[in-house]
Amino acid sequence: MARVLAVANQKGGVAKTTTVVNLAAALVERGDRVLVVDLDAQACATFSLGLDPEDLDETGADVFMSREPQRELADLVVRTADGVDLLPASIDLAGADRALASVMGREYVVRDALAGVTALYDWILLDCSPSLGIITINALTAANGVIVPLQCETLSHRGVGQLMETIADVQRLTNPGLEIVGVVPTLFDGRTTHAKAVLADLGPRYGVRVFTPISRSIRFAEAPAAGRSILATSGASKGARDYRRLADELNESLALRD
Ligand SMILES: Nc1ncnc2c1ncn2[C@@H]1O[C@H](COP(=O)(O)OP(=O)(O)OP(=O)(O)O)[C@@H](O)[C@H]1O
Ligand SMILES: [Mg+2]
Repeated sequence: MARVLAVANQKGGVAKTTTVVNLAAALVERGDRVLVVDLDAQACATFSLGLDPEDLDETGADVFMSREPQRELADLVVRTADGVDLLPASIDLAGADRALASVMGREYVVRDALAGVTALYDWILLDCSPSLGIITINALTAANGVIVPLQCETLSHRGVGQLMETIADVQRLTNPGLEIVGVVPTLFDGRTTHAKAVLADLGPRYGVRVFTPISRSIRFAEAPAAGRSILATSGASKGARDYRRLADELNESLALRD
């Protein structure tokens, strides 16, 4: 059965999508079967893995939001050039809060849609939008674990408390099994004392595992235009090595728990 991990932080631009795409590629490199589910109407994961959201007739929105005829998730999954499977997103997901407002069990639509494919993958990574709206609640409800990318700057901490409260609500109400796998420090600049001080403070402050940071690198801005992960466009770069190490650390920490 797949491990389902939600990559979430309602703060924008903290490298959620970059982490999903490159971690997925690193896990595929290890020989794992990986599905990325793009849960953001901005569809950046879809674009970064080489698909143009505007060319797609059907996307996750048709699985999660349309009542009739509802589509099977497995039928809409696309194999990308990186070897990562993808359920693409489109701007249609932007209407989810309204569309699902009157639906019974609206927190469970993603979990239910994934049920048919969990046996096909080792990992399912959920790329969340920068909000704590209904689709993010769905992601946290469907997941076994949550990974929180966080930039090592003081202001980036604002809002993490709210995210932790939302996770606690989900654990209480819809998904008692949800665990916080850890924080991934992103866009890290080890040359600044400030970044180092913020990094050292993360573990004690939130009481969670802190993975080795992902360094800041221009290579990350370049890769999405090619529709590939940085492991494909710049495989020997520091950034590629950082995400391979994250994949290793993730495997180690989950193996310890089994
Ligand atoms: N390690 C890094 N070094 C340099 N730039 C990075 C790094 N990681 C991500 N970026 C860049 O930072 C920007 C934001 O990254 P990304 O889109 O992954 O964040 P996000 O949290 O998914 O954003 P959103 O909240 O809008 O979904 C992008 O331009 C990306 O290329
Ligand atoms: Mg994103």
